[in-house]
Amino acid sequence: MQTDSSFTFVLFGGTGDLSMRKILPALYEAHRAGMLEASGKIIAVARHEEDRGGYLQWVNEHVKAHVSKNGIDENAWSSFLERIEYVKLDLGKAEDFVKLRDAMQDLPGTRVFYLATGPSLFVPICRALASVGLNENARIVLEKPLGYDLRSSNAINDAVGEIFAEGQIYRIDHYLGKEPVQNLLALRFGNALFEPLWRREWVESIQITIAEELGVEARGDFYDNTGALRDMVQNHLLQLLSIVAMEPPHSMDSDSVRDEKLRVLRALKPIDPRDIGKVAVRGQYHAGVIRGASVPAYATEPGVKTDSATETFVALKVEIENWRWAGVPFFLRTGKRLADRVAEIVVNFRAVPHSALGSSALRPGANRLVIRLQPNETIRLYCLAKKPGEGMNLSSVHLDLAFDQFFKEGQMEAYQRLLLDVIHGRLALFVRRDEQEAAWKWVEPILNEWAASGKPKPYAAGTWGPAAASAMLAQHDTCWLEEEN
Ligand code: BG6
Repeated sequence: MQTDSSFTFVLFGGTGDLSMRKILPALYEAHRAGMLEASGKIIAVARHEEDRGGYLQWVNEHVKAHVSKNGIDENAWSSFLERIEYVKLDLGKAEDFVKLRDAMQDLPGTRVFYLATGPSLFVPICRALASVGLNENARIVLEKPLGYDLRSSNAINDAVGEIFAEGQIYRIDHYLGKEPVQNLLALRFGNALFEPLWRREWVESIQITIAEELGVEARGDFYDNTGALRDMVQNHLLQLLSIVAMEPPHSMDSDSVRDEKLRVLRALKPIDPRDIGKVAVRGQYHAGVIRGASVPAYATEPGVKTDSATETFVALKVEIENWRWAGVPFFLRTGKRLADRVAEIVVNFRAVPHSALGSSALRPGANRLVIRLQPNETIRLYCLAKKPGEGMNLSSVHLDLAFDQFFKEGQMEAYQRLLLDVIHGRLALFVRRDEQEAAWKWVEPILNEWAASGKPKPYAAGTWGPAAASAMLAQHDTCWLEEEN
């Protein structure tokens, strides 16, 4: 595969929400930072705009607002627009793909096809690209969700696999591109300090939370057919779990890292359908208040069925059946319209075996590592220290690593990093087919059970989800981090 950096980046779904909010802003940032080869072109593909002029107007009107918190650099913006070409394309028309091929004819370098479309279009687009020979010297990027369950994801992977080799397929999970997730790898494998403690002998439990304040926004229709288990757990949460729990890879090359993640996914203790009530909680938000503003119930959101049984919250207890982690509960949680926007990993270490210093040293969680992925990236190590003054009274203190204090520059958004990785042919942060299959296999009993019976438990928007999620942890003598204060 070609590794030089000249490229043509073809964006299917060029006027879609994802292109507007994430992909085009990320490409602009990479351009502004001088990280894109000067000759690289972007060809947006859509049905709605007639010509390049119309598309650029759309970009000016819709994309600018999502670019850079630090304001826009007008010179960089106009030179960015010069990179963009436009092809109006109707997926049903074979001749439109000939038009696309002609537009790419004289452009050098790697071809990247980014499918920012619904998964039902992945196969037709790949087949149409192959019919005009555009699958050669090409990389294809598939957005999530890739399928709806194991069977449909296999069907897509099989069909795409007939046209593109696995090494050409970039299945994106934007959580893997987040700086703190990279930092977790650095923390674990760049420091000898944590690794000896990173195991069942020293770790009592681990929590991974991705909480959102946002509801389903304009995606009610999509979300109502998807739910939190498919939208967040099958991909983002299980990927985070696999990075937290994996063995040190032999190297950082793509297959070494992905092999180790796969081992974790394959070692997840299968869920017995009879136990689902004990290890999985689903919820759906009702009306409530977030930061002083009233928000409506999920079932009244546009595009959502009024009697919807789709979950907007999931909490799970997961176990990993290997020597490092046997018996350590991993609690995963995600939800929409929760009390705060936060993504974090909490590693609770075991208490000392005997305390000569009073009972607080015996409290679980006295030593704890909190890795905050967002909104502000920090790693915090909690310890006990003596309170000043008379007597030996212990109090919790923490060592703080705030990355934005250490590194003032160079922070990169997840999409920017991942798009550069595609252009440069780096696969490590993309999900391999076998990982995806293992993740679908693991969630499927829960999907099936939830589809067959019962309804999600209600929770008020602006809270931390149904009480059952707290009760699940209480059975293990622990609680979610925010419940401690
Ligand atoms: C997406 C989900 O993959 O991730 C969305 O489809 C969710 O529902 C989003 O809101 C969360 O991503 P982030 O980066 O904002 O935490």
